[in-house]
Amino acid sequence: MNILLGVTGGIAAYKSLELVRLFVKAGHDVQVVMTSGAKEFIQPLSFQALSGHPVRDSLFDANQEAGMGHIELARWPDVIVIAPASAETLAKLRMGRADDLLTTLCLATDRPILLAPAMNRLMWQNAATQENLEMLANRGFEIMKPGSGEQACGEVGEGRLPEPADIFSATESLVASLQPDPAWQILPEFWKGKHLLITAGPTFEDIDPVRFIGNKSSGKMGYAIAEAAAQAGAEVTLITGPVALKVSETIRKVSVRSAQQMFESVQENYASCDVFISAAAVADYRISKPKLQKIKKTDGQDDLTLNLVKNPDIVKWVAEQTPKPYVVGFAAETEKLETYAQDKLKRKNLDMICANSVSGGKGFEQDDNALLLLTESRQKNLLRAPKTRLAKSLLVFIAESISETE
Ligand code: PMT
Repeated sequence: MNILLGVTGGIAAYKSLELVRLFVKAGHDVQVVMTSGAKEFIQPLSFQALSGHPVRDSLFDANQEAGMGHIELARWPDVIVIAPASAETLAKLRMGRADDLLTTLCLATDRPILLAPAMNRLMWQNAATQENLEMLANRGFEIMKPGSGEQACGEVGEGRLPEPADIFSATESLVASLQPDPAWQILPEFWKGKHLLITAGPTFEDIDPVRFIGNKSSGKMGYAIAEAAAQAGAEVTLITGPVALKVSETIRKVSVRSAQQMFESVQENYASCDVFISAAAVADYRISKPKLQKIKKTDGQDDLTLNLVKNPDIVKWVAEQTPKPYVVGFAAETEKLETYAQDKLKRKNLDMICANSVSGGKGFEQDDNALLLLTESRQKNLLRAPKTRLAKSLLVFIAESISETE
């Protein structure tokens, strides 16, 4: 694997020597790019000796560019790792700046980028840094959590560079998560002839003829699962809330609007299915009595109260049936991801739950996602990747989990 290691200015820069050693020992080809700040802390020659390549540090050096131009260098790696990633570099990446070689390469590449931040604890906690990180995560950067403990400045807190061995593992996992799952090849054997019922998208709960309560679900996750399952040879029924997506003709699509309609459609279809996957973002409540005419704004009335009643819990209902299909739910959480997902797994009596963090704009609407898959006895972390790829890994995990219990 070709790894481009970016080293930015920070006292932890010396630890990246160990990282290069680990990469090289594992048989990877490593090229190092240093920022001017990094060179204040460590000599390029040390990286050159360990990587076996001259260190690149300039965008405008004709000699360096003559060997391999910066655009060519941006295409060379399978993955870019920035360790340590300073607060300054995070800010520049967030802004899309290209005023040095490293940031230019990051702008000019379509390869995955892993960031291992390291900085003083207050710089780490600063709202500016946290906002930069959130934005970068939403754009698909993979970001490691820094370590906690005594810092070079004498303070104690979060902001230490993760251990080189952990950065090494995170790099390998990131690249592995982007490869087609080898188990995908044997999947058609498992899924052929199986019937999958999948819900996707939002539900819209009407307030009056022109207004409704909805949510941000685009349907991308559920549709990706439906496509992957059809590709693996399964018979797929997709019950979808209102979204702007198309599906292959081999998939039987049922369009619904409200949670109640989705529930009725699931009731009609669940009995013949082997696996039910509930990826839809179903409204927990609906308007008790939607108005038949458009609600008018009334002069002098500053408040408007809408009465809501609970919708049926569709996935819970399916899990209560006998016989029942293998039931997979999703959990969209903004905090305590694993704890809340475990709670839903048990409370709704599901066979599996796919937990996704939806804080800071993640999960909903995006093309990529990250999932924590949980059953009573198994657990798998699917790192951030396109939903189309996650869908395949999810189907592999479901197939393995069902096979294990048979
Ligand atoms: O559609 P995308 O833009 O691609 O975004 C994907 C997603 C974030 C919507 C998806 O990955 C996801 O997390 N879907 C579930 C969202 C959700 O409603 O989660 P929840 O924690 O509120 O519900 C838990 C489970 O119960 C879900 O499987 C849900 O489908 C189901 N449920 C919820 C309420 C209800 N009345 N009936 C249900 O069946």
